[in-house]
Amino acid sequence: MQSQTYNYKVVRQFAIMTVVWGIVGMLVGVIAAAQLVWPELNVAEWLHFGRLRPLHTNAVIFAFGGCALFATSYYCVQRTCHTRLFAPGLAAFTFWGWQLVILLAAISLPLGFTSGKEYAELEWPIDILITVVWVSYAIVFFGTIGTRKTTHIYVANWFYGAFIITVALLHLVNSAEIPVSLTKSYSAYAGVQDAMIQWWYGHNAVGFFLTAGFLGMMYYFVPKQAGRPVYSYRLSVVHFWALIFTYMWAGPHHLHYTALPDWTQSIGMVFSLILLAPSWGGMINGIMTLSGAWHKLRTDPILKFLITSLSFYGMSTFEGPMMSIKTVNALSHYTDWTVGHVHSGALGWVAMVSIGAMYYLIPRMYGKTEMYSTKLITTHFWIATIGIVLYIASMWISGVMQGLMWRATNPDGTLTYSFVESVKASYPFWAIRVLGGVLFLGGMLIMFYNMIKTIAGQKAYDAPVLAPAGAHA
Ligand code: HEM
Ligand code: HEM
Repeated sequence: MQSQTYNYKVVRQFAIMTVVWGIVGMLVGVIAAAQLVWPELNVAEWLHFGRLRPLHTNAVIFAFGGCALFATSYYCVQRTCHTRLFAPGLAAFTFWGWQLVILLAAISLPLGFTSGKEYAELEWPIDILITVVWVSYAIVFFGTIGTRKTTHIYVANWFYGAFIITVALLHLVNSAEIPVSLTKSYSAYAGVQDAMIQWWYGHNAVGFFLTAGFLGMMYYFVPKQAGRPVYSYRLSVVHFWALIFTYMWAGPHHLHYTALPDWTQSIGMVFSLILLAPSWGGMINGIMTLSGAWHKLRTDPILKFLITSLSFYGMSTFEGPMMSIKTVNALSHYTDWTVGHVHSGALGWVAMVSIGAMYYLIPRMYGKTEMYSTKLITTHFWIATIGIVLYIASMWISGVMQGLMWRATNPDGTLTYSFVESVKASYPFWAIRVLGGVLFLGGMLIMFYNMIKTIAGQKAYDAPVLAPAGAHA
């Protein structure tokens, strides 16, 4: 009867690794944060802040976030298409291939091998492996859609699909490089074109890896956990097309006041401002899905994770357009304000929605009715939320302070503060960030314990058989 059940094995594998890589990536983040407060922690070349920072970003975005996206997309596409995953062998390959990419990143980045492009630091042999895994992922995902037993393609799959196609495009274009040895390559682009391509990639990595894929997650797991249909299906379709069209043009806001032609910077700014509308359309659609079920928020910590993530999504997509206004960016750029914005999106939105989805998935993957301890999920929720608030509030304050100190001038035109004075003034806020990070990491450790206890507990049911055509997933 195996052929009648969903393929949960690969979902299980990715779900477990989401939690594991989340802990590893955030631990590296905490160490990097501590190194800024206590520079003596830079004990060895391979443990230096400059090496750990890209290790952190790669681990949290591609290992933690990536595994969460693989797990949830493989689950959602099967359930909503009422069919098993297409090409199960290839699906298994995407798991092992992706873990190999992560392992190679974890070795090569501390050793100092880097292409020097932010969020695309891995060297060319790993880039090729990423391409092979990603094409396999696309075949499995779209193959499943192609062999679906339903007439309709649920909106979550549109977002996952756009994420898969766009990331393939971004990776292929941005990672075009000329190898000079096994471990060194140079970008195929030069000068300002290289910068432009890099931030077209960088911003759309935010838009599609850190946003569109997670919106797919939101459109499946929020209605499921709330037990309500999505608030407006029409809005979700408008949201989809408006978001994917607008994101593509906003990249130049990362290059304000650079050698990039001024008109391109202005286009980036205008599209960033427009981006507020589809982003908030999505947030409103998610939050309003709770209409008639608000009371569930009081007792259901999984829903708390999901809805709080949407609030942070709304906050960071309000802040982003504001920061893209050139005069505001003149203050925020290069400061901790950007880092605060990043983490209100990354911890508040990406991590919270993933954690909520994993708490939904893990018991179901192991034939359990619920997680081992709901109390521990509630504890996790509060620790994580306090951690995020400490992290982003401290970065906002230090960021604005840094910006103001750098631009302050005396009546005779000389600078009021030296750079090092601004560094000294930032220390208390960096210490608060360490505390926020430790709390968030602590929450992940609680989740790990809860996950192990759930997996080890008594099985309540077998993997469900495929839903009949026409039934709800
Ligand atoms: C325990 C949680 C975390 C801690 C303590 C932490 C800490 C840090 C630190 C210290 C930096 C370097 C800041 C600097 O250069 O001044 C950083 C950068 C970054 N982190 Fe995290 N992080 C955490 C979680 C996450 C998560 C979950 C994500 C993504 C899903 C993430 C994404 C990023 C990104 C994209 C950057 C680069 C920011 C930029 O270039 O402006 N972090 N993080
Ligand atoms: C409407 C949506 C958004 C807009 C218009 C926007 C805009 C911006 C702007 C203007 C910057 C600062 C660029 C600079 O001065 O260097 C920035 C940085 C950044 N944002 Fe956003 N943001 C949005 C949403 C998000 C979300 C939801 C996330 C995370 C999930 C995110 C992640 C980042 C990252 C990682 C950076 C730092 C890039 C770097 O310098 O390494 N953004 N964003």
